[in-house]
Amino acid sequence: MNFDLVIGGAKVIDGSGRAAFQADVGVTGDRIAEVGNLGTKQSSRALDGAGLVLAPGFIDVHTHDDRAVLATPHMTPKVSQGVTSVVVGNCGISLSPIAMTSNPPPPLNLIGDQSDYRFSSFSDYARAFHEAAPAVNVAALIGHSSLRAGAMDQLDRPASEKEINKMAADLDAALAGGAIGLSSGLDYPPAKEAEEQEVARLCAPLAQRGGIYTTHMRDEGDEIMAALEETFRVGRTAQVPIVISHKKCAGHRNWGRSKETLQAIALARQDLTIELDCYPYIASSTVLLAKYLDRTEEVLITWSDPYPECAGRHLSQIAAEWGCSIFTAAERLAPAGAIYFQMDEGDLQRIMTFDGTMIGSDGLPHDKQPHPRLWGTFPRVLGHYCRDLGLLELEQAVHRMTGKPASVFGLEGRGEIRPGAYADLILFDPDKIIDKATFAEPCQAADGIEAVLVNGQIVWQDKCHSGAGPGQLLRRKAR
Ligand code: ZN
Ligand code: CU
Repeated sequence: MNFDLVIGGAKVIDGSGRAAFQADVGVTGDRIAEVGNLGTKQSSRALDGAGLVLAPGFIDVHTHDDRAVLATPHMTPKVSQGVTSVVVGNCGISLSPIAMTSNPPPPLNLIGDQSDYRFSSFSDYARAFHEAAPAVNVAALIGHSSLRAGAMDQLDRPASEKEINKMAADLDAALAGGAIGLSSGLDYPPAKEAEEQEVARLCAPLAQRGGIYTTHMRDEGDEIMAALEETFRVGRTAQVPIVISHKKCAGHRNWGRSKETLQAIALARQDLTIELDCYPYIASSTVLLAKYLDRTEEVLITWSDPYPECAGRHLSQIAAEWGCSIFTAAERLAPAGAIYFQMDEGDLQRIMTFDGTMIGSDGLPHDKQPHPRLWGTFPRVLGHYCRDLGLLELEQAVHRMTGKPASVFGLEGRGEIRPGAYADLILFDPDKIIDKATFAEPCQAADGIEAVLVNGQIVWQDKCHSGAGPGQLLRRKAR
């Protein structure tokens, strides 16, 4: 036998952005062994790629899958849409390095409760990852808010000198143990009072160890320009590469301002390494907080501890039924999560086609009635935005989901089809691929995904999970 598996006669989109070409791909062990005409060569298994596209598995650069990969290692919402690697620990929220002694404050409760925050070091988390053997590869960021919760008795104030040193030491240890960088969530209560210099100082260990900084900025609405300037200053002071998370212009009065923000980012990209991620929807989702309500057109409840039966319902209807304002209703529902319709389609398309943009789902796997982005993001970009609207070439869109994120996050051997690369692969039908998840029925596998391989093993085929758990913990190799 020449190969363990051959995928024959597919149109190969190799992840680099270059034009598709016809080829067979031979897989041996966890690697791609050969790309070309493999006509007479033997393999123990074959997949027919005729009429289909073979691409590198998608890299979901923005996730909150920290606990999901341990608790639900099949990771069906992700592999069913062709995702083979996820970046966890975004928006300042990571499960390590902190063992919580009380209930995590919002938004830390998005990924787990007190009992889930049981990893006082990143190495403990890595051990649990290997025991769980998930279907997808994971690259892990360390959350600034999690570091704060581990170093401070109170989060509604700037950190002291001593606390900053403790956070920097914890971060440094996590990076040494294999974490790839730092994320912040400066718009959220546990980090809102952190001063710019606190963040810049925490970026110092990143600079030393070649880590990356991702940020859910201090503001995504009226004060977006000030938030961008802060992000640029941190990048300049600390000399670290930056990813701006889920780029958006939130709130009706800010619609259209992506022209202004993208222009500023394009300018900053002349001397800074800055990329963006976005998801293909005009609604966002996070914890239910009163401060987001007055800029939102419509709010859907995704979960509520005191009123679990309200998941999936409109906040305005609940308020009407209760005979109170939406603000009072939100208070009663908390702790809770919500979907906020607050973005403009024109901004979304401008951001998605911007040079520096990658695709990240920002899915929330533990929500009772989650935002459909959890199951639908990647097929929606390829089916709706590429094929139906013609917004991007297929090769370009695939590049933003594979080769580009692999290079930005330093995931060596991922995101490309070439001999020697890891066999993370997706076989899909370009005429049929489409998201099926909707706001009413969010937990639906996409159509048109024929097969998905992680490290050479089939994890998803004919809308079924194989049960395999070949995922690896990925380290970063800085450019
Ligand atoms: Zn965020
Ligand atoms: Cu997020």
